[in-house]
Amino acid sequence: MRSPAVYIETFGCQMNEYDTELVRSILKDSGYGFTDSSDTADIVLLNTCAIRENAHNKVYGHLGELKHLKKGKGLVIGVLGCMAQNLKKDLLTANSLIDVLAGPDSYRALPQLLKQAAAGQKSMAVDLSEYETYADITPDRVPGVTAWIAVMRGCDNFCSFCVVPYTRGRERSRTFEDVLREAAALVESGCKQITLLGQNVNSYHDGRHDFADLLLAVAELPGVVRVRFTSPHPKDFPQKLLEAVADHPRICKHIHLPLQSGNDRILEMMARTYTRAEYLGLVERIRSLRPDMVLTTDIIAGFCSETDTEFQDTYTLITEIEYHCAYIFKYSERKNTIAARKFKDDVLEEVKAERVSRLIDFQRAISLKKNRAMIGKVVAVLIEGDGKRTSEQWMGHTDGNLVCVFPKSNQNLKPGGLTPVLITDATVTTLYAESP
Ligand code: 5AD
Ligand code: SF4
Repeated sequence: MRSPAVYIETFGCQMNEYDTELVRSILKDSGYGFTDSSDTADIVLLNTCAIRENAHNKVYGHLGELKHLKKGKGLVIGVLGCMAQNLKKDLLTANSLIDVLAGPDSYRALPQLLKQAAAGQKSMAVDLSEYETYADITPDRVPGVTAWIAVMRGCDNFCSFCVVPYTRGRERSRTFEDVLREAAALVESGCKQITLLGQNVNSYHDGRHDFADLLLAVAELPGVVRVRFTSPHPKDFPQKLLEAVADHPRICKHIHLPLQSGNDRILEMMARTYTRAEYLGLVERIRSLRPDMVLTTDIIAGFCSETDTEFQDTYTLITEIEYHCAYIFKYSERKNTIAARKFKDDVLEEVKAERVSRLIDFQRAISLKKNRAMIGKVVAVLIEGDGKRTSEQWMGHTDGNLVCVFPKSNQNLKPGGLTPVLITDATVTTLYAESP
């Protein structure tokens, strides 16, 4: 009998992309096959994200589109990830399209859940674990120049707006040796750049080693060309870690430093544990070690009770810091969070939208200015593959994580190569270059 064909669609963050690779590995070991479209699938799994309202809506939209396949050929539909965890029984009502729910700590149960679903029984596994790290499972990856390794899972910070501590549970780290083993195997298979992943990656601690130890050890592995990490929390940047990032030639000069707000009252309501001045102090420490460090951030506009003047504090902080790039979000109330329980989501929708668009416009101008300042410089790019627009160009990233494209004029270059290029032009999102 032919093995059932699974199609997995992934929404949300890089951790979800990584988890999809874990799920593929678990299912492959149980005899499942894969397909790249829902039309040819027996089972469709949506690996979902719950971080903001629009992530939710996207998944509901997709479920709607699967209705005809469900009716027509008895497709089995599963919802994985944060939304499964957060909505639990809501999704398993009698008239729901969904047959299987599996939260982020329950992927080992998937073969069993799918078996039950094939026998006509809806099933779910959504318990959170204090220990599950999937350490013994090798993700089923597409071999390439870059790869991710999840080094820790979960989050203990409970920022008041955030659903992650509820959907992904408590922080837990994989062992140092385990991560190094996975990294060494990746390099062996041709991977050049490793990104260490975690909801709170710099809280990593396996009892003996902290995040700086881990980052340095991965960077020291023979054959590693670049190491990145995401997403860190500003509270966990001891000097040892800052110096590791600033000084090690293979640790990329890019730090994503989620700010969320530039106003102290809002930061306190968000439970971010730092003040504006402390955050600025961290930026100064980073820049005194490496003035060229690329800094990026996340911002939430329109958090509960945020006034115009308080929003202005975020705006002025952006002016002061000048991030290379910022991801700017409208506050979106999430079920179960501290903010949903304690505060009123009372900033008008149009005010939120206006604040977001004002910040986006402003940030785009800064990004353009910073990218244009690179024109005339020679920088190293790790070639990842063809450019999006044409296969006559290579695409890669600079050390600071900026996208760079350049013509394939040099026959000796290929994906995986680290090459110097001369920046000749720039837009808000892309650097254009030529081989010098
Ligand atoms: N509303 C809006 N943005 C949010 N984020 C997390 N939770 C929310 C929410 N409820 C943003 C934060 C975080 C990023 C990953 O998503 O800025 O850093
Ligand atoms: Fe959410 Fe805060 Fe944890 Fe990040 S640190 S995942 S924003 S609770």
